[in-house]
Amino acid sequence: HRDLIGIGQLERHEILFLLDEAEQWVALNRQATKRENRLAGLTVINAFFENSTRTLLSFEIAGKRLGADVVNMHAAQSSVKKGETLIDTAITLNAMRADAIVIRHGSSGATQLIADKVGCPVLNAGDGQHEHPTQALLDALALRHALRDRGEAADDFTGLKIVICGDILHSRVARSNLLGLQALGATVRLCAPPALMPAGIEAMGAEVYHDFDAALDGVDVVMMLRLQNERMSGQFIPSAREYHHLYGLTKTRLRQASRDALVMHPGPMNRGVEIDSEVADMIDRSIITRQVEMGVAIRMAALDVLTRRSRGVPGWGDAA
Ligand code: CP
Repeated sequence: HRDLIGIGQLERHEILFLLDEAEQWVALNRQATKRENRLAGLTVINAFFENSTRTLLSFEIAGKRLGADVVNMHAAQSSVKKGETLIDTAITLNAMRADAIVIRHGSSGATQLIADKVGCPVLNAGDGQHEHPTQALLDALALRHALRDRGEAADDFTGLKIVICGDILHSRVARSNLLGLQALGATVRLCAPPALMPAGIEAMGAEVYHDFDAALDGVDVVMMLRLQNERMSGQFIPSAREYHHLYGLTKTRLRQASRDALVMHPGPMNRGVEIDSEVADMIDRSIITRQVEMGVAIRMAALDVLTRRSRGVPGWGDAA
């Protein structure tokens, strides 16, 4: 592949390849000096048309740790505000001869549209309700490390039961994780109020629940998602208090999962709504900060692998 648009475009062996590639960067990032200059001389543009903390910063850190020149374009300060179209923005970025472009955009399909217009690899940092592939990859890597730390086999997730609970309808994270976790052998349950569950999602292999207590029964991993209030368009949803009562992950509720079940959240969290602080901060169960750590390593792997062809190193497809 030239681009990384979605987990849906990847084979299982390609997902595992990216996870394995990221391991060297996990090790590097834990050293005092975190630098490997293999992308020296390359320019990475982060073009973010939506807000971000984790994804933007970790792509920036990833590019810099690999020696690339990294520039960030924030839509709020760009000529998008003057009416420039997405395609003209893409043509403009292309004329600057970037070596990789990382895009976050509020519309599903925007990343592919830009990829079709530029001459360098494009990495999807989240497009609308479609996909957030590096999030699913970092989630898989965080899970792999957490299972390994417990002495459990974690080359893939065969036999693992995972529930993803929250605003599934609007969640690109849920979609990418459903595809990625299933490709790695896990059984995935999706849980949401009826208005926040996409119609027909069962066709993607998910087990659908609306009762969180039933969905939690016996799962090994609980992944919580926030309500994306900025994307709501008339869906009937409970108040934050009611939502917490029905779908909030509390310490008591977590007891319905398997004894050592791990807790994940891609962030940003709304503490006290979808997750209680005493669960989010459980040292032995919550791997939320480890997810953030793995984000840098995964984005280093993605930038490295996708720029191999332009650097004259055999590319992804060439090596396979
Ligand atoms: N998980 C995630 O995408 O977070 P940001 O929106 O802060 O990048």
